Amino acid sequence: MRIDIITVSPELIKSPFEHSILKRAQNKGLVEVYFHNLRDYALNKYGKIDDYQFGGGAGMVLMIEPVDKLISELMAEREYDEIIYMTPDAKTLNQSTANQISSLKNIIILTGHYKGVDQRIRDQFITQEISIGDYVLSGGELAAAVLCDAVIRLIPGVLGDETSALTDSFQDNLLAPPVYTRPANYQGIEVPKVLLSGDFPKIEAWRHEKAIERTKAIRPDLYTPED
Ligand code: ADE
Repeated sequence: MRIDIITVSPELIKSPFEHSILKRAQNKGLVEVYFHNLRDYALNKYGKIDDYQFGGGAGMVLMIEPVDKLISELMAEREYDEIIYMTPDAKTLNQSTANQISSLKNIIILTGHYKGVDQRIRDQFITQEISIGDYVLSGGELAAAVLCDAVIRLIPGVLGDETSALTDSFQDNLLAPPVYTRPANYQGIEVPKVLLSGDFPKIEAWRHEKAIERTKAIRPDLYTPED
């Protein structure tokens, strides 16, 4: 998979890609990530990429021309499956969206700043808009990093144990069940006996039951009773 990220702050977004699983995924050649500084496509030597909004109102708006130049350059080199814009006024990211995106070959992610981007950018170029939650960040960079993390860990081969992504919370619309490790008894606080039983069907049934319990208690909106 190839991800091209368009930003006005490359330094703000690079760091998560230089550590842990995201770094390993790139080292293994499973994902390539490129950062493009929108200011390199500015209208003048002062780096102009934004302007006041027509009709008045506070806040600067990202102009269409630098974005057009950059996206057109990228699109001339290869085909993109999706051009994603990170913005709070969009559908919220969930595991199903992350799964879908993880199967794509080439994507562009545009991160916004200021008051937003000229609507014509959204109308002309953007194929999918994603929010990471109902709150406003100072820019889309951190949101893009969140999206990339959620997506990249799902690419086959990225996680050592292929099953571990499958048993994540949300993969089946349930929160993950509790997990325990050694010692089995810590100062009298014991691990549930079933987990030590070696009876794997029973352990699976227990985990499923706990996942349902947790989902009902914490995220009843996710829970749909099984047939
Ligand atoms: N940019 C600013 N806030 C955001 C959010 N919640 N999700 C995605 N992009 C954003």
